[in-house]
Amino acid sequence: MDAVDQLRVEEPLAPSTLSALEERARARPEEFGRAALIVCESLVRIYQSEGIEVQALQGLDLLVEAGEMVAVVGASGSGKSTLLSVLSGLDVPTAGRVRVGPWDLMAMNARDRVRYRRTMVGFVWQQTARNLVPYLTAAENVALPMALAGRPRKQRAADAAGLLDVLGVGYCAGRRPAQMSGGEQQRVAIATALANAPQVLLADEPTGELDTATSADVLEALRAVNRDLGTTVVVVTHDPGVSEHVQRTVAIRDGRTSSEVLRRTATRDDGTEHVVAEEFAVLDRAGRVQLPREYRETLDLVGRVRLALEQSHVEVHPDRSAEEGDR
Ligand SMILES: Nc1ncnc2c1ncn2[C@@H]1O[C@H](COP(=O)(O)OP(=O)(O)OP(=O)(O)O)[C@@H](O)[C@H]1O
Ligand SMILES: [Mg+2]
Repeated sequence: MDAVDQLRVEEPLAPSTLSALEERARARPEEFGRAALIVCESLVRIYQSEGIEVQALQGLDLLVEAGEMVAVVGASGSGKSTLLSVLSGLDVPTAGRVRVGPWDLMAMNARDRVRYRRTMVGFVWQQTARNLVPYLTAAENVALPMALAGRPRKQRAADAAGLLDVLGVGYCAGRRPAQMSGGEQQRVAIATALANAPQVLLADEPTGELDTATSADVLEALRAVNRDLGTTVVVVTHDPGVSEHVQRTVAIRDGRTSSEVLRRTATRDDGTEHVVAEEFAVLDRAGRVQLPREYRETLDLVGRVRLALEQSHVEVHPDRSAEEGDR
C-alpha cells in the first residue's frame, strides 16, 4: 500500500447513510445461532492439574440444529470428551456461551442441572460396563430412569419394551448385561439413554470397544433413533467410516472445530442420484481458519503469511520477504 493511499481522506457521508449506520449500530446484534438447538460459542475449558494448565477447549464454536445427527471426530486429546461432558451438564466451561434448547448451561444451579440431565439429554459412554447396571435385566435398566422420573410402573414396562424394539434388541429384554454381546449392550444403553425421551442424545465413542461390523450396526441404530424418533444426536467417534453414516461430520483440532464434511445427494446428468461428500474448513466467529498441516508443511507456511483478496476467493502465500532480503 503506498503512502498516498493511506492518507486518503474519506468523503463525508451523506446524512441518510449516516442515520442508517447509526440505526444499525443501535440495533442489537442477532444472537449467534438463535435458531439452533445446541449453541456453543467461543467455548473455553481450562483444566488445572498439578500447576499445569491444559486448554482442552480453545474457543470452540458449534451449532447443531434440532433433528440433526452430527458426528464429532478428532485426534486423541483434541477435546471431544470435554465438549460432550459440557453438553451433558457434567462439566462447566471456563468461558464462552453454551445453550441447549432453553437451558443456559453456564447459568444452571445444581437443581436445574439435575433436571436438565434427567429430561433434556441422554448419554451413552464408550465403556459398555459404565452404561448399564450389571445386576438388572435390559428391560429393568431401561425402566430405571423412568422410575426416577416418576412414571407409573405399568407404563414403564410397556415403554421399555417399545424402546428395546426400536433399537432392535427386544429379544434381550430379560437378559442381564453379562448375557449380551458388546453391540447388544450398547443398543440397550442407547434405549436406556432415551428412557425419558430427551431431545438430545450424546454418545462418547459408543463404538470404541466394538469391532468394525458391530460398530456400523450401532451407528445405524443411532441413525434410526435420529430418523424415527426425531432425537438430535451428537456422537463422538474414532471410526473413520462414520461420515458414511451421517450427514455432517465435524472435526475438532486443538480444542476448536476445524473442518466439516457434509454429505448430500446430488443428481447426475442422466438423472441417477449419488452421494457427494464435501469437506469445508470452518471459519470461526473471530474470522480464524485452521490450515491443514499438509498444506502448511508443503508450502512451508509458518509464522507470517500474506493474504490476498481476489474477486471470488482469498489467497494465502508464504512470507518470502526474509529470504529475498538476504539476497
Ligand atoms: N479432568 C481433567 N484434568 C486435566 N486435564 C484433562 C482432564 N480431562 C481432560 N483433560 C485434558 O484435556 C485435553 C482434552 O481431553 P479430552 O478428553 O476432551 O480429549 P478427547 O478428544 O476426548 O481424547 P480421546 O480421543 O483420547 O478420548 C487433553 O489434553 C486431556 O489430557
Ligand atoms: Mg475422549
